[in-house]
Amino acid sequence: MKVLVTYMSQSGNTKKVAEAMFDAIQVEKEIKELSEIESVDGYDLLLVGFPIQAFGPAEKAKQFMAQNVNGKKVALFTTHASPEDSEDLPPWLEACKKAAAGAEIVGFFNCQGELAPDIMEMLKSSDDPKLKSFGELGPTTKGQPDASRIERARVFAKEMTA
Ligand SMILES: Cc1cc2nc3c(=O)[nH]c(=O)nc-3n(C[C@H](O)[C@H](O)[C@H](O)COP(=O)(O)O)c2cc1C
Repeated sequence: MKVLVTYMSQSGNTKKVAEAMFDAIQVEKEIKELSEIESVDGYDLLLVGFPIQAFGPAEKAKQFMAQNVNGKKVALFTTHASPEDSEDLPPWLEACKKAAAGAEIVGFFNCQGELAPDIMEMLKSSDDPKLKSFGELGPTTKGQPDASRIERARVFAKEMTA
């Protein structure tokens, strides 16, 4: 079994999760940023990670999935500033799955990630009241993904590749 972990990450949280997953995988594996991918041929499973941006998958990830995952076995992972139990989250996660609708989605991991200070300021000054309220969430996200979330990511990756 050959696995590709690929991700995009604006402020480093999804990258941290991707690297933890990669480290935990015990079969043949590669890790690459989404922007480095030329072809996904030859992999039995893709782990595709990205942040939630504006209530759904980041645009670049959406484009990548539209072009690359059709017919592939895929496990998705995402990070977001909202807490995992936020009632806002289910439709955003659905939007992520929809973006990979042509794939066989075998798993989906999500966890909270810290809102970077510059992004927090940018969101706080947004005209969109919802984005503004995420900006205000900022301080409560500090230190995420923490060790327990990273451990959950490792367990997920092991399960997906067992
Ligand atoms: C433009 C933008 C929009 C965002 N929109 C949301 C959002 O709708 N919901 C949310 O929970 N977090 C939102 N975030 C926060 C990120 O999803 C979160 O900080 C994530 O962990 C960032 O991952 P990264 O460090 O891999 O880029 C947004 C961040 C940015 C930059």
